[in-house]
Amino acid sequence: MAPDSQPPPSGENPGPSRQRSIFISGLGGRKPRIPIDHERLESEAKRIMSAEGFAYVAGGAGTESTVRENRAAFERWRIVPRMLRDVSLRSSSVELFGRRLPSPVLLAPVGVLEMAHREADLAVARAAASLNVPMVFSSQGSCTMEACASVMGDAPRWFQLYWGRSNELAASFLRRAEACGCEAIVLTLDTSMLGWRPRDLDLGFLPFLRAQGIAQYTSDPVFLAALEEVQETEAPGPRPPLTPRTLLAALEMASYHPGSTLRNLRSGRARAAVRHFVATFSRPSLTWDDLSWLRDQTTLPLLLKGILHPDDAREAVGRGMDGLIVSNHGGRQVDGALGALDALPGVVQAVEGRVPVLFDSGIRSGADVFKALALGARAILLGRPWVYGLALRGEEGVAEVVENLTAELDLTMGLAGCRSVNEIVRETVQRVMPGAR
Ligand code: FNR
Repeated sequence: MAPDSQPPPSGENPGPSRQRSIFISGLGGRKPRIPIDHERLESEAKRIMSAEGFAYVAGGAGTESTVRENRAAFERWRIVPRMLRDVSLRSSSVELFGRRLPSPVLLAPVGVLEMAHREADLAVARAAASLNVPMVFSSQGSCTMEACASVMGDAPRWFQLYWGRSNELAASFLRRAEACGCEAIVLTLDTSMLGWRPRDLDLGFLPFLRAQGIAQYTSDPVFLAALEEVQETEAPGPRPPLTPRTLLAALEMASYHPGSTLRNLRSGRARAAVRHFVATFSRPSLTWDDLSWLRDQTTLPLLLKGILHPDDAREAVGRGMDGLIVSNHGGRQVDGALGALDALPGVVQAVEGRVPVLFDSGIRSGADVFKALALGARAILLGRPWVYGLALRGEEGVAEVVENLTAELDLTMGLAGCRSVNEIVRETVQRVMPGAR
């Protein structure tokens, strides 16, 4: 039996069983608490999130043309169902870096989750572990990777690195990730600077300036040691106007920083941490040659996230990377960049099967997962949808969003004539031009 064609252990396919339980609850007048339809999921989340929180999650760069293009790219591909193929037993299980996963789905790294739910990354870690779906801890987590790992048992987890000014800090992050059981490292390349995001700019809101989303830094011995040294020397930069709002922001900042809020306020440590983070977060000077240093820091599989050009894909494989993630960061970085799905076939072709190619940006349904796999992705990372689930119902919301996605994937596979993910080949989809007849 091919490695990716194992039937589900219980013999029960997840699609029909999830459908059944939803419809049976419906008989008793109970509707799903987490909307199945993506647009409703997003609008319900918008209703309960703060304006700033929703803008941060939903927003994209510039005119958001790439956010739209990510979806349009999916519309240009159509599934071609095949009949009479005995699809009574199906499995969407895949193997990735030696670990068998229940489905080709991981949770994309998403920072500043406290803007969605007060339990933030911890709720996500519990949900991911309950489903055995890998969670990719973000460098911009609202909870430390150690705290997340402590609620996950031996469920799979990866770590996503933003490689800033300090190699010592990057190395420290990697050591911590290894110590808390991460099974792969994802280096995100497309955020060498923050993209131009009008929704956040119009609200004048950047969470990091309030000490949100910097928990990995404020818990790191290298970052804290550097903080002691630089506190005196770092240029303070422009100061915000002194208004009641600024005072509130200072209070908020002090409360997010580890330790007592009052002491943080008095010592100015929270402010110093934010300032140091802002000064050192990004490193636009990185080049391909720098990768060899990172490669030497860990024996874990190393994946590059944000690859869109076939030449970059070849370069990455040539430099010993273990995997690629085709992604445009959900359209949050370069407005006008191509839809991520349009970049996938070229990258897959360039890699020639030497390393697994993963995909994110625009996945909203099980049918989307099918299309990405058909175009050569080994697995996909789900982004905004589970963040909306988190906003609506914490851990349960994340789990429901993922379960709905994998249920739909199972049904799509069966209805298209595929029993396992390795039967989702290129011929199962066709490119169409919108409007063409
Ligand atoms: C992200 N993404 C992201 N990526 C990353 O490598 N590190 C991070 O900290 C974050 N943070 C983050 C925050 C928010 C609010 C969003 C929406 C996204 C990008 C993420 O991993 C993924 O690439 C996109 O979410 C995929 O696009 P869709 O499917 O969400 O549209």
